[in-house]
Amino acid sequence: MTAREWVIVNPGGSRRVVVTKELPGERWVQLLTAADCRVEIAQGDEVLGEAELRAAGGEHCDAVIGQLTERWSAETLGALAAAGAAIYSQYAVGYDNVDVAAATRLRLPVGNTPGVLTETTAQLAVALTFAAARRIAEGDRMMRAGEYHGWLPRLLLGSLIYRGTLGIVGAGRIGTAYARMMVEGHKMDLVYYDVRPNEELENYIADYGAFLVAHGERPVASRRAATLHELLGACDVVSIHAALTGETRHLIGALELAAMKEEAVLVNASRGPLLDEAALLRHCRAHPRFRAGLDVYEEEPSTSPGLAELDNVVLVPHLGSATTFTREGMATLAAANVAAILNGWPVWPSATGLADVRPFLEDEAPPRAAPSIVNADELSLPRFAAQAATKEGQR
Ligand code: DGY
Repeated sequence: MTAREWVIVNPGGSRRVVVTKELPGERWVQLLTAADCRVEIAQGDEVLGEAELRAAGGEHCDAVIGQLTERWSAETLGALAAAGAAIYSQYAVGYDNVDVAAATRLRLPVGNTPGVLTETTAQLAVALTFAAARRIAEGDRMMRAGEYHGWLPRLLLGSLIYRGTLGIVGAGRIGTAYARMMVEGHKMDLVYYDVRPNEELENYIADYGAFLVAHGERPVASRRAATLHELLGACDVVSIHAALTGETRHLIGALELAAMKEEAVLVNASRGPLLDEAALLRHCRAHPRFRAGLDVYEEEPSTSPGLAELDNVVLVPHLGSATTFTREGMATLAAANVAAILNGWPVWPSATGLADVRPFLEDEAPPRAAPSIVNADELSLPRFAAQAATKEGQR
């Protein structure tokens, strides 16, 4: 293994921040420089293993901005805390690769980047839905292979996604954004499965239904499913938006796939292990009219052998948040988490969407707060008093 190269920005900074991958944009570096940080950025595309992460933290480190591809176990977080770190900041909204319980025991705040990727990721799920339903990847392959010999009435017939029933498994930020795009754009009824009711989403869809009626159209409806199987049996399209935990691993397996409609579309832009990939492979082989669109995989970056040969599966490489706007914004939020914790600032109220985090991305003087710390409550970190500060012009 060749030695990794590091680029150092603001070498005279008094706080040492390790960044385990190069990040897009400029604002994140400006925020860290303004917080008097010396920023050490790992070069190269290979994922840092745990030993290398611990070595990178070294004997003294004030903060790390890390990646979803790395494993931040209790041992590695322990080494980071022992090096004096005040925060681990994840460059992602998901943090199933981080042992947050261990971080909390170590009194180490864990940052993440919600809000800025909600619409971007929901749009990718929409794109996968239609790519699968309308056989876009097959058509693309046909064109590139020079196999298109003229319009034919039966060429690559797919499924119309219009009206019908949409199912979302997990009605959090991204699931809700995806549901709204599909319901508003394609007038589908919604069934959602979540441990909590989402009244805001239900009310929104009821209002949209009333709007359709006022325009002489049939309304749309929404309801929360009592069980996952109830949702799966009822829906033409199912998109997975749950968080990956010990309980949700293989949430969709052979039995769940068997409960779905023969010609349903299944999308996963959340986390690969939510779906039993081997079971999906068998199901798609046996049911050629069933279609799947996948952004994430059980053993990234690998896919189960045989999956790539199936025409009824569309595969993209974990692109959910991959727009310039979002990836730069994620870097800004990850850096803002670091700067705020190092400066002793409070934590921003939870971000549900872009509107909540825009001040961090755009304001000349961003809020003196950490955008998102997932264990803020467990660590009793103070919350930003937004109204008072805005009134006094402190934001
Ligand atoms: C996240 O932020 O968790 C996404 O998976 C990145 O695309």
